[in-house]
Amino acid sequence: MANDQYHCDVLIVGSGASGLALALQLAEYGRIAVLSKAGLSEGATLYAQGGVSAVLDVGDSVESHVQDTLAAGAGLCKPDIVRLVVEHGRENIHWLAQLGVQFTKDPGSDDYHLHREGGHSQRRIIHAADSTGKAIETTLEQRVRLHPRIELFEFHTAVDLISSRRLGRADHRCLGAYVYDRRAGKVRVFRSKFTVLATGGAGKVYLYTSNPDICTGDGIAMAWRAGCRIANMEFVQFHPTCLFHPQAKAFLISEALRGEGARLLLPDGSRFMDRLDSRAELAPRDIVARVIDHEMKRLGSECVYLDISHRPADFIIDHFPTIYARCLQFGFDITKAPIPVVPAAHYTCGGVLIDRHGRSDVPGLYAIGEVSCSGLHGANRMASNSLLECIVFAQLACADIASLLVQAPGVPQLPEWDESQVSDSDEEVVVAHNWDEIRRFMWDYVGIVRTNKRLQRARHRIRLLQAEIHEYYGNFRLTNDLIELRNLSQVAALIIESAIRRRESRGLHYTLDYPADEPGRPGVDTVLTLAESEGERVVA
Ligand code: FAD
Ligand code: SIN
Repeated sequence: MANDQYHCDVLIVGSGASGLALALQLAEYGRIAVLSKAGLSEGATLYAQGGVSAVLDVGDSVESHVQDTLAAGAGLCKPDIVRLVVEHGRENIHWLAQLGVQFTKDPGSDDYHLHREGGHSQRRIIHAADSTGKAIETTLEQRVRLHPRIELFEFHTAVDLISSRRLGRADHRCLGAYVYDRRAGKVRVFRSKFTVLATGGAGKVYLYTSNPDICTGDGIAMAWRAGCRIANMEFVQFHPTCLFHPQAKAFLISEALRGEGARLLLPDGSRFMDRLDSRAELAPRDIVARVIDHEMKRLGSECVYLDISHRPADFIIDHFPTIYARCLQFGFDITKAPIPVVPAAHYTCGGVLIDRHGRSDVPGLYAIGEVSCSGLHGANRMASNSLLECIVFAQLACADIASLLVQAPGVPQLPEWDESQVSDSDEEVVVAHNWDEIRRFMWDYVGIVRTNKRLQRARHRIRLLQAEIHEYYGNFRLTNDLIELRNLSQVAALIIESAIRRRESRGLHYTLDYPADEPGRPGVDTVLTLAESEGERVVA
């Protein structure tokens, strides 16, 4: 059995933009394994629409991008990290273009076409029409599939990190992970000198989300259990404009439409954003989502509308072919009529606290991309800064790991996964029910607008559910749904706890009990640790 243990230099958990970019760069230095919970390309990256923000226009500057990011982040960004990421933007876009990503160019020119999105004072979003994520992900995928030093493990779900402390040793280091092979229904040990979480966000914690099904916050929950600090989980970003249709599964309508002049309308056809913010439809996302939520509640309306039909049909179809085609499938011709839209959970600003190299608190363990909290986004991520963060932190983590790899200690044989005390579940309904319950009360009680009372209700429910899930987990054999449910409940608990601790309205965290203060006022991160909460039984 012990011979079945897989061994590599670096284990990368996740195959989105951050995981694959890191794998390609690190493969020069060692043997890399990449895990993905589903097929290799499935993840948030594949669905990214608007693009990647970077200083590419001659009229733009690093300073301007930095200042816009700081303003959107509502006083919680780390200015040195913002500058570091922005300064590395341009070279990373060139790296992607050299790999073969086909970014859209201005007609008849060699210059890239740049979009503008909320919070940006300039056009600085490089894109591949309206399916930028697909262009990036599939290009990276082609490269890693051909690479002799990268081994890919699709349909393999990391269950928990293995740390030397967990094994009762005096030192503290991440040694790999227990990994569930979904097809074989078996847990295997993966041993590695370095482990990198690139597992993406946790949008599935909410009933309505733009995120694909893999976004269950696994990396955040695993890091938490391994003893890492988790920061700023209350800042969940709701994208203002997802298609409102029962079968659309929260299909995103890119902010780039608003960058090209699309207007938000109430059901009576009147515009409203221009009355509430000087930036109108291009105000940062937290503001636009909150105003829409307010208007929908005020009018008892199921949705608001986004209208770009005043632009020429050719322009719309040329710039937004994916959105045009998808809306048409649902009976909406966006060249002729407004699109019904609603906000939905979109991005997890908080996550595993990391330093400027992507290092977490546990030696040997890194976190990059949406799973992390690097300090770039603060209390509200600016549009298209996420893919930028994925690629830049892949580069930074690569440099750090490469410099440490030679002297890194080897990893001994590790204890196998113990299944001797569990049996097959005869009550799968418990898992499905609890999934549904968490997502529903998170939407109702921990959504765009919060109150102390609703947060306390949510805390009460998550405690009951976590106790039930803990017991179920201890008694029954693993399934992918059970692994995700355990993580989802953990992440929900972290969001609720962080929201309760923040006694102010700031950025994406808006509560009626502590009304908004001076915007941009410097603030303090909400940082949670397992050690601190163990005594409280809160989020263990
Ligand atoms: P992901 O791309 O989500 O990849 C996560 C990977 O981790 C997957 O391979 C998954 O299988 C794997 N994984 C997860 N858990 C486990 C586990 N337990 N074991 C093994 N593997 C695991 N940002 C922008 O900057 N610009 C945009 O235009 C933009 N548009 C967006 C549109 C949509 C619809 C969405 C949902 C997001 C958008 N974002 C955008 C945000 C951005 O796409 C994501 O933040 C980014 O792609 C995250 O990349 P990632 O590599 O961190 O994770
Ligand atoms: C969008 O295209 O509106 C999404 C951009 C982002 O989330 O950064």
